[in-house]
Amino acid sequence: MDLVSFTDQWQAQRQQLFKSVPPEGRTVRYLDREFLVYPDTFWPFADSLPLVRHFRVEPGESVLDVGTGSGVIAVFACYRGAARVLGLDINPAAIRSATHNAQAHGFADRLELRRSDLFEALGADERFDVITANLPFRNKPAHDVVAMSQWDTGFATNTRFFEGVGRHLKPGGRIYFVQSNFGEIEAMQGLAQAAGLRVEELASEAIDDTKRQQFFVYEMSHRA
Ligand SMILES: C[S@@+](CC[C@H](N)C(=O)[O-])C[C@H]1O[C@@H](n2cnc3c(N)ncnc32)[C@H](O)[C@@H]1O
Repeated sequence: MDLVSFTDQWQAQRQQLFKSVPPEGRTVRYLDREFLVYPDTFWPFADSLPLVRHFRVEPGESVLDVGTGSGVIAVFACYRGAARVLGLDINPAAIRSATHNAQAHGFADRLELRRSDLFEALGADERFDVITANLPFRNKPAHDVVAMSQWDTGFATNTRFFEGVGRHLKPGGRIYFVQSNFGEIEAMQGLAQAAGLRVEELASEAIDDTKRQQFFVYEMSHRA
């Protein structure tokens, strides 16, 4: 089976899993820590591993995590010493899961969650040292909020992300952005370059030994 058909099937199965979680939630282990996901929330998975393993957060910095899902990246930003972390997600179930995980990991005092379509819930003057994003990789129609965790209709969310991200990044700030070999790497690079960003591949990770599906994290910053 070709990679596209294989990935279509695999992602559809995962969406059914996200929907089939019982109302009290389900615990998922990720890098030796536990995260609770309520129904309809994307589960922490290998896609975010290159980012979480390699992103740089200096103690005291502020971090914005766009498309926070269970809050896994935001929680690890807190473990790295961020002074303030804000997680945004369009899916109310994700905000509920991330709010639980912020409390369970002891970071409720510095990790805030807001339901938001990209940057909509941010003030015009809210800027961050670091912005992280593991948004849906694929340009494929999403018919519900669960599908929107993996598919981006017309690549519109990714396009709007790059149009808006510069307004919320402090001078000298860094963006860490995830993509995949079954996603839209070239389109993402084009959008980032059009937004005046320098793009550098930082790390990659495969789901398994076949290396058929790979995930990449890119570090971006404003071109001088
Ligand atoms: C691939 S999941 C990643 C979740 C989490 N950050 C992680 O790494 O496990 C993508 C997330 O982006 C969210 N998302 C999709 N479109 C969005 C939008 N327009 N604004 C905010 N969040 C969005 C989805 O609801 C989903 O939680």
